[in-house]
Amino acid sequence: EKGGYDYFMLKEIAEQPKAVADTLLGRIDAGGSLTLDEVRISAAELREVDKVVIVACGTAFHAGLIAKYAIEHWTRIPCEVELASEFRYRDPILGKRSLVIAISQSGETMDTLMALRHAREQGSKVLAICNTNGSTIPRESDAVLYTHAGPEVAVASTKAFLTQLVACYLVALYLGQVRGTKWGDEIGAVIRDLSQISCEVERVLETMEPVRELARSLADKNTVLFLGRHVGYPVALEGALKLKELAYMHAEGFAAGELKHGPIALIEPDLPVVVVVPSPRGRSVLHDKIVSNIQEIRARGARTIVIAEEGDEAVVPYADHLVRIPATPTLLQPLVATVPLQVFACELATARGNEVDQPRNLAKSVTVE
Ligand code: F6R
Repeated sequence: EKGGYDYFMLKEIAEQPKAVADTLLGRIDAGGSLTLDEVRISAAELREVDKVVIVACGTAFHAGLIAKYAIEHWTRIPCEVELASEFRYRDPILGKRSLVIAISQSGETMDTLMALRHAREQGSKVLAICNTNGSTIPRESDAVLYTHAGPEVAVASTKAFLTQLVACYLVALYLGQVRGTKWGDEIGAVIRDLSQISCEVERVLETMEPVRELARSLADKNTVLFLGRHVGYPVALEGALKLKELAYMHAEGFAAGELKHGPIALIEPDLPVVVVVPSPRGRSVLHDKIVSNIQEIRARGARTIVIAEEGDEAVVPYADHLVRIPATPTLLQPLVATVPLQVFACELATARGNEVDQPRNLAKSVTVE
């Protein structure tokens, strides 16, 4: 049942190109537009939306953080992202024109369910992004966009996360499409890029042996830090979460710009720091800023593990270890940049003798608040 792999997690990491492709299947028409008929919220209602609020927990929350960048850029609708467990306790401002998106692999997470119930009581429409047919969260939502990752068995979420990202991009692009924003042309181009992206994920998977080797060499470390900017910031948070839950190591993700506001004090000789580097094309100012962050931490002795696009030569002098990912549009980069971090955490867990599929103290779906 593990299809020749030692762990479900390895199998599920390997299934990601297919999971991504399956989640796009039937949702892009021949003309290159999106058809999300299954989202039973009418185009007229979507045109009225004046705020998007995303609620989720854990890895799904990280998908939501990335979605915010895409939604605000492509639609110009303000978007908030909140941990479901915090949401209803702060008396959030919601109305009939708020669209609440609840992201959940299992569809049974109690915190997320309670958050969506609260949103519906306030008269907001709720769209679920979910991987489990007929589970509670989609049943209680106004509409659902299913991710087609297939069953995810390993407790640590991998393929569900990538498909949550795809679903979020689809919702963002669809909102942009029905509302006809000024990014009209860009939306068409992104839909084309998205339809190619599963091949890029496949290419990343083919080049992971050095990442595994690196992970094994770090098995006796206590701490690993992760840095990112823009959409690379939630990717850093996700890399840190995977490492905590699988390797039981102290791992923290930071926005690279926050380094000088405190975390840089943590840097000491030989501390592994993983840096997710944005594309040097496009918004190149982001790229230049992170290169100087890498220089800063390296000057203090950190061992830099740099995840950077193919052809990005500016990072080479400052990378103790360089992991190459294919060039993608900035907003889509998390689909390729997360994969090495999953492999890294899985291999470190194995090297430390941990149970990969069933980490201590964790359950696959958290049905208590
Ligand atoms: C981490 C992980 C958890 C879940 C979280 C939400 O690898 O799996 O953080 O993402 O418990 O679960 P769902 O998506 O089922 O609501």
